[in-house]
Amino acid sequence: MGLLLPGTTALAQTKTAAPTATNASIEQRVAALLAQMTLEEKVGQLNQYSGREVTGPASDRKNTLLTSISSGKVGSMLNVKGVKDTREIQAEALKSRLKIPLLFSLDVIHGYQTTFPIPLGEAASWDLDAIRLGAHVAAKEAAASGIHWTFAPMVDIGRDPRWGRVMEGAGEDTYLGSLIAKARVLGFQGEKLGGTDAVLACAKHFAAYGAPIGGRDYNAVDLSPQQLWETYLPPFKAAADAGVATFMNSFNALNGIPATGNSYLQRDILKGQWQYPGFVVSDWASIAELVNWGYATDKKEAAQQAITAGSDMDMESDTYSQNLAQLVKDGKVKMDLVDDAVRRILHKKFELGLFEDPYRFSDEKREKQVLADPQNRAAARQMAQKSMVLLKNEKATLPLTKQLRSIALIGPIAKAKRDLNGSWTVDTDTTRITSLYDGLRQRAGKTTQLLYAKGCAVEGDSRAGFDQAVATAQKADIVVMAVGEGWNMSGEAKSRTDIHLPGVQEELFKALRATGKPVAVVVFGGRPLIFDAIADQADAVLFAWWPGSEGGTALADVLYGDYNPAGKLPITFPRNVGQIPIAYNQQYNTGRPLIKVSETRYRSAYIDAPATPRYAFGHGLSYTSFKYSDFKISRSQLKAGETVQVSFTLTNTGKVIGEEIAQLYLRDPVASVVRPLKELKDFRKISLKPGESKTITFPIDKDKLAFYNSKLEWVAEPGKFNLMVGSASDDIRLEGTVDLLP
Ligand code: GLC
Repeated sequence: MGLLLPGTTALAQTKTAAPTATNASIEQRVAALLAQMTLEEKVGQLNQYSGREVTGPASDRKNTLLTSISSGKVGSMLNVKGVKDTREIQAEALKSRLKIPLLFSLDVIHGYQTTFPIPLGEAASWDLDAIRLGAHVAAKEAAASGIHWTFAPMVDIGRDPRWGRVMEGAGEDTYLGSLIAKARVLGFQGEKLGGTDAVLACAKHFAAYGAPIGGRDYNAVDLSPQQLWETYLPPFKAAADAGVATFMNSFNALNGIPATGNSYLQRDILKGQWQYPGFVVSDWASIAELVNWGYATDKKEAAQQAITAGSDMDMESDTYSQNLAQLVKDGKVKMDLVDDAVRRILHKKFELGLFEDPYRFSDEKREKQVLADPQNRAAARQMAQKSMVLLKNEKATLPLTKQLRSIALIGPIAKAKRDLNGSWTVDTDTTRITSLYDGLRQRAGKTTQLLYAKGCAVEGDSRAGFDQAVATAQKADIVVMAVGEGWNMSGEAKSRTDIHLPGVQEELFKALRATGKPVAVVVFGGRPLIFDAIADQADAVLFAWWPGSEGGTALADVLYGDYNPAGKLPITFPRNVGQIPIAYNQQYNTGRPLIKVSETRYRSAYIDAPATPRYAFGHGLSYTSFKYSDFKISRSQLKAGETVQVSFTLTNTGKVIGEEIAQLYLRDPVASVVRPLKELKDFRKISLKPGESKTITFPIDKDKLAFYNSKLEWVAEPGKFNLMVGSASDDIRLEGTVDLLP
């Protein structure tokens, strides 16, 4: 049986070959197992394949993959889910000589069976506990269904709404994005790996995938070192510091070097400077794609570049399986590199307890019980409520009241179900999704008649349904529209050059507006959208993102005021695509600041549109109102190592209970590198009853004042700093200054 550590016993035939955990540490058990492995078995652990070929329709099944699995040539499978299939495939792996269990992975991005709002929508809640709970529920359900590892959280900073994958992240701000990265990792993994209610998380896509040239997915990225370190790396570092088990690299090239072959990213920064102990999986076929990039001559060179650069596992490209062993034999790749990759992967399999029981995540009874837990949908409903952003609400059009005799619900997403789960959803069973129509019909009860007309499709130019929609509107006291993107219009490979509301939906709005009835519009989508007529002429606008399984119920809660909306935009909504990039923290004073809109000549402005966004980062209204007062800074000067307290009083000046997300922004007006006009440095989400006041305090220390200078040093330079508190990045209510002394 080869080398077994003292105190460990040979395992019964059905168990794996690794020594059992008596007093041996995981490191010792990994070493003992590694010492038994042949080169081919080691390379086997570095391969991951998609399940379609082994659990898909018979036409897709390839017995070659099953044979590879049972001969120890596969380390992980993705897209195999459910207790039945994972048990079946795991049994194949345990036929191999060393019986090393497989890792089963899946894109559990915003829920497994219970679908939560898309991550960008969750980010709009600014509610870290709720975000963590959402990830925990997703992990619980996935882990009960045989899944060991999710390819989430996606922590790419996304500032460009042309890029369809902004829907998967936490928006444009690094401070908020870093806190959310940590919350999601802890939600997926729990405090310690090994529980069957937790999965390995995966910080992706490393790195700077969210900044493709032209907003076009998979494109090259050109970034200054300051931008890389100040904007795009911190959420990955936050995930690593939170103990994220794995990283996934990215499809893009960064400053000319594809991430998959980028030693600076994966060796120097991640595994070097950050001392990261986990493993890196490539993105789908990204190792083989080094050839397409023109970085590798062929797959053999790609394999050598990727393993050398720190890509431990090859997802779906067959590059390692075909080339790595020979590269080692030819002396072109050191065995140490292969051993390091194998060690990192085996370590996670030991941490999950898979060597004790390879089937411990695949328990039929637990799967049924966990997936049926009503707490899961209750959590999804609460998160959906928290994610929605009230963009506009004039004449107190919302909330809807019981006095309404009839509501006309009109639009292509009014009865939609699949669209509410958005893209990157695991569950597409529409019997488990409540539409806006379902939610309103249930909430409106007997007192209010709910009329309905589709009006038009999401896409296409047919106006055939307009007349019926207008006639329906004319019968009602109020119109509630349901418009937006279809579920497959944001997400991977969904870049758009035009982010207007698709089809003729805005024309439908204009026709309904012409009836003179009050119109409240619910907009669904996976990204910032442009809807000028609605923004200008609707009485109320609520952005619902893709709200998930409980979307319709949560929308009824918000529209009827059972839940007072408190969401704030985690990403800027531009007026037009020409303004992009327009993230709030990419705005500088410039040498020719635009002081008066009337004087655009020789000023940093556009001659054909304002430079301000349609809706700013941090924007979001409530059914109540809040007053900010009594701004104080504990000391006007600050030395290194000291902390000053910024405090103010927040009062609910309205008639209903509500939550406010008070934001703290900073500006360094004079520095060795010009600094943005505003940077988010803290926030508090506070619930207040009508008339209630609370004092809020933000601590400011030197680290909050720091940035990367031109030598890439993290410095806070002496001088004056502007501190601003407000309800949005364009709604500053109080401000003051503090001096950092040398
Ligand atoms: C995709 C995505 C990545 C995902 C992987 C597996 O191409 O880029 O985010 O986790 O493949 O589905």
